[in-house]
Amino acid sequence: MTDLPHLPEHARANREAWDRFAADYAEPGRRNWAAAEPHWGIWHVPEAELRLLPDDLAGRDTIELGCGTAYVSAWLARRGARPVGIDNSPAQLETARRLQDEFGLHFPLHLGIAEELPFEAASFDLAISEYGAALWADPYRWVPEAARVLRPGGRLVFYTNGPLLQLTMPESEAAGPAGRELLRPYFGLFRTEWPDDGSVEFHLPHGEWIRLLRETGFEVERLVEVRAPEDAVNDPRWTYVTPDWARQWPSEEAWVVRKRG
Ligand SMILES: C[S@@+](CC[C@H](N)C(=O)[O-])C[C@H]1O[C@@H](n2cnc3c(N)ncnc32)[C@H](O)[C@@H]1O
Repeated sequence: MTDLPHLPEHARANREAWDRFAADYAEPGRRNWAAAEPHWGIWHVPEAELRLLPDDLAGRDTIELGCGTAYVSAWLARRGARPVGIDNSPAQLETARRLQDEFGLHFPLHLGIAEELPFEAASFDLAISEYGAALWADPYRWVPEAARVLRPGGRLVFYTNGPLLQLTMPESEAAGPAGRELLRPYFGLFRTEWPDDGSVEFHLPHGEWIRLLRETGFEVERLVEVRAPEDAVNDPRWTYVTPDWARQWPSEEAWVVRKRG
């Protein structure tokens, strides 16, 4: 467990933010736990379309980095994997534990940050993050940690906002959703602090993702720029992008990378 005083400043801000957001994620978390088939991101694109998960999950050790309510790990468990989840928010983990009891599906959950994983090197076959570490953790610290805990040949799959969205999203929710104007520079894209709630996100330009991933020992297999489905509807929790915008530009993306060796 990572004590609050030792948390990096962004992780402390995000723990406070996610402990506040957690109540709003409990019911959607339950719906996702109950889903028969995995789906991804705010547009709920089916796994059958994106094919982000390895086919051979049976008996595989998986770690979910920023598991939140841990529905992704529940999906992995139902496919035969041995999941472990780690998250920075005690309140999110409380929801995850309640849902484990409700669905009768238990796996280890740890309080901690993806930048400092409490696991031995080469412990996992798959590291995965859907809007967890992928968005909220410092990539220059969590990506090397993911590489360390993966076995050679293991995969890292992460799903987050695309850089075009990050460039066009106003600072405050009150200013409306992403538009067509570039509001911040692409070069140097890294850390964004949101004034509405004090949370801190991380994004990188694509070239920088590729450099970082390759330098930490990964081969990039796929970058999936996700298009919202034709019948996409906005979840009222997320007002920062419209389905119409996300039909024209990729608001979300998934990286599938493999550890060399
Ligand atoms: C949008 S949720 C995503 C998780 C999951 N897919 C879900 O929706 O429940 C983001 C999660 O990332 C966690 N998180 C933020 N920063 C983190 C960090 N540095 N390490 C691990 N988890 C982190 C938050 O506490 C939160 O539970």
